[in-house]
Amino acid sequence: MSSIVLFGPPGAGKGTQAARIMEATGLPQVSTGDMLRAAVKANTATGIEAKGYMDAGNLVPDEVIINLIKDRILEDDAVNGVMFDGFPRTIPQAEALSLITTVTHVIAIEVPDEKIVDRICGRYSCSGCGMVYHDTFNPVDSSGCECGNWQEKRRADDNAETVQSRLDTYHQQTSPLADWYMEKGIFHPIDGDRAIDEITGDILIALE
Ligand code: AP5
Repeated sequence: MSSIVLFGPPGAGKGTQAARIMEATGLPQVSTGDMLRAAVKANTATGIEAKGYMDAGNLVPDEVIINLIKDRILEDDAVNGVMFDGFPRTIPQAEALSLITTVTHVIAIEVPDEKIVDRICGRYSCSGCGMVYHDTFNPVDSSGCECGNWQEKRRADDNAETVQSRLDTYHQQTSPLADWYMEKGIFHPIDGDRAIDEITGDILIALE
């Protein structure tokens, strides 16, 4: 089993690109953020533990995340590999992942901090299908989402205060992973401050 990792700061466009790469590669998207939000909504023990960390823009403890991933990759759709979105975020998570699957590519979407706040504060998604949109940069069609089940959803942690804390967390705890993966020769930086289609094109070239 071999897998790819989408890496980058909050709001870099990992989820946006994941939907497109999934279509092109057939690899299922495994987003730890989405899994945690589902756990919070379902009020499970994991969700109750994770909520405070997420609301504050801090990382959920490694052990909780690694257990979620260990369970997820046992599911049938993961047999040929997966595309991780927002995981790993620490070196212990990356070490645990290396025991589970071979990571062939780490796609690092790079966006300057000053662009991140606007991206995150304008984000919304379709609760019908999960497609991500933006008030200005990528608005939903006036007739609604193409899934036909349009309902707007905004995230509780998409506000200016939490964004700053998520960015600080990223720089302190997650960005050291870039060197860790660079040394392994599988790190592919992609300029994420461009049109969505251009970024997708470069990611698909990096994955060839
Ligand atoms: P998570 O859900 O993973 O959030 P994140 O990493 O902060 O990333 P986002 O989902 O906010 O951004 P994205 O890169 O997917 O951007 P998007 O495509 O939506 O994590 C949430 C929380 O869960 C964490 O804070 C933490 O507490 C916890 N957590 C999760 N995983 C964890 C882990 N492994 N370990 C510990 N804790 C964990 O795009 C953003 C916006 O920009 C959208 O509106 C989009 O339309 C727009 N946009 C996208 N691309 C472009 C473009 N090229 N130009 C203009 N606008 C664009």
